[in-house]
Amino acid sequence: GKYRVVSTKPMPGTRWINLLVDQGCRVEICHLKKTILSVEDIIDLIGNKCDGVIGQLTEDWGETLFSALSKAGGKAFSNMAVGYNNVDVEAANKYSIAVGNTPGVLTETTAELAASLSLAAARRIVEADGFMRAGLYEGWLPHLFVGNLLKGQTVGVIGAGRIGSAYARMMVEGFKMNLIYFDLYQSTRLEKFVTAYGQFLKANGEQPVTWKRASSMEEVLREADLISLHPVLDKTTYHLVNKERLAMMKKEAILVNCSRGPVIDEVALVDHLRENPMFRVGLDVFEEEPFMKPGLADMKNAIVVPHIASASKWTREGMATLAALNVLGRIKGYPILSDPNRVDPFLNENSSPPN
Ligand code: GLV
Ligand code: GLV
Repeated sequence: GKYRVVSTKPMPGTRWINLLVDQGCRVEICHLKKTILSVEDIIDLIGNKCDGVIGQLTEDWGETLFSALSKAGGKAFSNMAVGYNNVDVEAANKYSIAVGNTPGVLTETTAELAASLSLAAARRIVEADGFMRAGLYEGWLPHLFVGNLLKGQTVGVIGAGRIGSAYARMMVEGFKMNLIYFDLYQSTRLEKFVTAYGQFLKANGEQPVTWKRASSMEEVLREADLISLHPVLDKTTYHLVNKERLAMMKKEAILVNCSRGPVIDEVALVDHLRENPMFRVGLDVFEEEPFMKPGLADMKNAIVVPHIASASKWTREGMATLAALNVLGRIKGYPILSDPNRVDPFLNENSSPPN
């Protein structure tokens, strides 16, 4: 091939490889037997000539790597992730390296995991499963693993972008929950959806669902029974959920996080879980992956899974394909397909900026 494209990890499916090969690229996949590659490992992979790299969210794409990629003649880098807090976009710009991410294909899959964690926490599925396996079940009891009924409760969404909105629709329509959301952008499409569904329920003689756009994040924390976090991780959202904000939440609330770990102060969360046994949490992400803060793994009111929100076959193949197209497009001289630098045309489709 005329171009050399490197992938720092084997990725699902073959479509992404075929796409690149058909367009004259030689694809090199790193098969090092370690989960997380160091900057040095990646510099070795880049070598003397490399036109583009597909990388992972566990890698630190900063000045050092972009400078190495630039020296090797590289023009493009794509994260195989929608989040790109591991990428220093300014450093990439400095070397005229385009950066891509993989939104869209993971929206529903991620929202479905947030919904799964919500239900699992509400109905104490993991605790109950452990109880069965431990041979503790002696027969039906009125008090055994009583959880929360979601119907008629309020779901709070912080960050109503693609994923947050998809999750909100699932919880409203699937479980007849009322919605309160906080986002700098108004999501008229989401509001219209809840209004229309509310009208449908009313016409059928049922209690209608309602929506409210909160004027602060605190309002969501105070009022919601189930809260799911969907912001982008940046300086403004680091430890968004801290000790003070945890204290604002209802004692029996459920908190779900499928965004990025540092959005929650995990040490404060462990204390809060310990002091409030009825408070429950479902976590896909952690402050310092792959580690959990001391005590978290012992909390019965926490469900923890290893950053699998986008892990469906269709989505992972889609992410790999989109990452390949990002890199290929730039190599061929087109604008990168999904560029987080650019205002995303899909993200706030029916939204208007804050007044
Ligand atoms: C996964 O966490 C992603 O950002 O795609
Ligand atoms: C991420 O894709 C989001 O905007 O929710």
